[in-house]
Amino acid sequence: MPADRELPQGRPSELVGRRIAGYRVEREIGRGGMAVVYRARDLRLDRTVALKLLAPELARNDLFRQRFSHESRVAAAIDHPNIVPVFEAGETEGLLYIAMRYVPGQDLRVLLDRQGPLPFPAAGRIAAQIASALDAAHAHELVHRDVKPGNVLVAEGTDSDHPEHVYLTDFGLTKKSLSLTGFTTAGQFVGTLDYVAPEQISGRPVDGRCDVYSLGCVVFETLTGAPPFRREDDMALLWAHQYDPAPPLTEQRPDLPEAVDEVFRTALAKTPEDRFASCAQFVAALRTAAAPARRTPTQVAGAGPQAPPGPPEPPGWARPVFRRAG
Ligand SMILES: Nc1ncnc2c1ncn2[C@@H]1O[C@H](COP(=O)(O)OP(=O)(O)OP(=O)(O)O)[C@@H](O)[C@H]1O
Ligand SMILES: [Mg+2]
Repeated sequence: MPADRELPQGRPSELVGRRIAGYRVEREIGRGGMAVVYRARDLRLDRTVALKLLAPELARNDLFRQRFSHESRVAAAIDHPNIVPVFEAGETEGLLYIAMRYVPGQDLRVLLDRQGPLPFPAAGRIAAQIASALDAAHAHELVHRDVKPGNVLVAEGTDSDHPEHVYLTDFGLTKKSLSLTGFTTAGQFVGTLDYVAPEQISGRPVDGRCDVYSLGCVVFETLTGAPPFRREDDMALLWAHQYDPAPPLTEQRPDLPEAVDEVFRTALAKTPEDRFASCAQFVAALRTAAAPARRTPTQVAGAGPQAPPGPPEPPGWARPVFRRAG
């Protein structure tokens, strides 16, 4: 990370214990290419928050500032269970910051690095929650533009039917669409290009369908362990997004039916018009395509010589009733 992206207060550890706007910094949670995220205490409401401090160079970029203020306002206005609630976005000492709900858990990047490809049901549950967040944003005319595993926070779910609760974060915080043409400038950090849609690369206007493409790449990775396009260098990767067909997913997941490949062909289509119109449509098509594979174990179990299992035993307290009835 170049020196000018260091926060002005100095080394990150020096911020711990400091007060920034109305927050007391407690510890660093993580950092990306253009921000550092801290766990902090909201001193007014006495609650824990995640405080994101953006690199000072971004505060000096007028276009970024305008979009930051507009998009954090729109993102804060969307009340959705899968979007990290934004409490406040502002500027202090020449530093842009966002205070948002602190989500305990890990991001999808860390989860995939630790666990590798996920079983289909888990991948499907995670995809459905990201899709729901994105479609809600699109309904507010907000395009995320930077859907990637690092922006998907995975917290513990409520029960065994919902083992994980997924939050999408960082709406409109990408630098990519501002500076892709200059991405080779020495020291300029653009972030990962693994999930970027062809129209973002070529500078054409983007709408929600660029998020459909990125979601397609993310779901591909949750199922295989790697994004669809992997190349030696950035130029080759950008070329691949624009012109190369994605490899069939079933080459790496032969346990899934080939119908799944067609779904990814549509999600990852080079032209937005050829993609699914919404993220929900993509996830629904994916689940339908994968359904035969998921039904197989039950069918096999039921098709055996044994009789299908009878009704479960009644609980102890109900036995007298059943005995009388029987
Ligand atoms: N609301 C939050 N609650 C808990 N942890 C968070 C929250 N927001 C972000 N984080 C953590 O902080 C890390 C750094 O976030 P940041 O957005 O700066 O980087 P990134 O998304 O990985 O990369 P990039 O800068 O390219 O967007 C995240 O990966 C995540 O683990
Ligand atoms: Mg992020």
